[in-house]
Amino acid sequence: MKIAILKERRSGETRVAGSPDVVGKLVGLGFDVVIEQGAGDRSNMTDQAFKDAGATIAKDVTAALKGAGLVMKIQCPITSGAGEELSKFAKGTMVLSQMSALNNAADVAACAKAGLTTFAMELMPRISRAQSMDVLSSQSNLSGFRAVIDAAYEYGCAFPMMMTAAGTVAPAKVFIMGVGVAGLQAIATARRLGAVVTATDVRPATREQVESLGAKFLVVDPEMEKDAQTDTGYAKEMPPEYFEKQKQVVAEHIKKQDVVITTALIPGRPAPKLITAEMVASMKTGAVIIDLAVEAGGNCAGAQANKIVVKNNVKIVGYTNTAGRVPGNASALFAKNLFNFIAPHVDKETKTLSFDWDDETVSGTLVTRDGAVVHERLKKAPASPKSGATPKEKATAKPKPKPKPKSKASGTGGSAKQSGKTAGAAGKGK
Ligand code: NAI
Repeated sequence: MKIAILKERRSGETRVAGSPDVVGKLVGLGFDVVIEQGAGDRSNMTDQAFKDAGATIAKDVTAALKGAGLVMKIQCPITSGAGEELSKFAKGTMVLSQMSALNNAADVAACAKAGLTTFAMELMPRISRAQSMDVLSSQSNLSGFRAVIDAAYEYGCAFPMMMTAAGTVAPAKVFIMGVGVAGLQAIATARRLGAVVTATDVRPATREQVESLGAKFLVVDPEMEKDAQTDTGYAKEMPPEYFEKQKQVVAEHIKKQDVVITTALIPGRPAPKLITAEMVASMKTGAVIIDLAVEAGGNCAGAQANKIVVKNNVKIVGYTNTAGRVPGNASALFAKNLFNFIAPHVDKETKTLSFDWDDETVSGTLVTRDGAVVHERLKKAPASPKSGATPKEKATAKPKPKPKPKSKASGTGGSAKQSGKTAGAAGKGK
């Protein structure tokens, strides 16, 4: 099977969904890998490095997609308007990318209509086995790091305490709101730079994590926080009473802070508003707020996407793709996440790729297939009955070398050595 890795065309995207290391591993599994020319330039991954790893370089997107059974991307193909990409994809092509599927019904519908089999990697279930496939974690970790670096850059003073002959420099006070993957890395990075760090979160489990990193936890309401976490490890939307209490606690604390980094998100919902305009007005002159949730509407009043807004001499920074500000690592880790997702479904002997549709990591991320939106969280009406194979899959089907185990019911599979895909028996349907 041919795997294509494309240049990202969405504005502000610096990453690429492949790396020479991962290309080498895919080639080792028997895939033909094609990279669109210049796809890795902004991540400092040269065409030559990809070539050395065993990839072929395609001169443009059309050439890269020709005969590709699977496409690795950072972001969902552009479905309309300037830079439209979707029409270049053949029906039945499998696409692994981030899709913002819970917030972006139009792109999901367009991919379904185009007959693509899409996997939204941000929907990867939070199970231990899937940690190595979790793009949210790999990217959030780098965002947390970069948020502190951006804050240090924008802040007019030093982070560490310095005792000099000319006087003492006080350490910066850094407050982290939301202690998931990004927040934890932000704490660790700010501590390494010598700041005095405090942090808060609705999930009580975070208290111990914060303290183990040498930061102080700001408690809001332990009673209400008892029930703040979903089974999947995410925060629940909190009741208005909680936000009132949080506002009072945070309002007092934030006045004394030099830097605030907000990371609070609720999957599929707008980001909770944690910092009001009054709180911003109460902050010290020269303070910096980095709002990592700006893409989901922002945690801070006045934050704007990809802008630095100055309010009462406080800078509110709203970069939307903070992981993309560390593109080398972000691309390499994203590519590895995709590889870890694919690899368990490749038969090492026959070198064929055949997704096990019943595998939690597959069913949890599969968004469109056979012209329909198939993900439980996105289906509005009952999905059309599944045939198990798209027209393209049927057209290119070849017999399987050996019978498949029952659990691998249906599939957009494919030989790693060929551009065709195999079609399994009728699927159970999603
Ligand atoms: P996230 O990006 O959805 O949210 C960031 C943080 O904001 C979370 O810690 C959340 O509790 C917090 N938050 C939400 N509303 C808030 C509010 N009103 N006030 C204060 N804080 C608020 O979360 P992320 O980073 O994706 O991680 C969530 C959890 O999942 C973590 O415990 C993480 O360790 C776990 N996880 C598990 C994985 C696995 O088992 N495969 C992989 C990655 C993360």
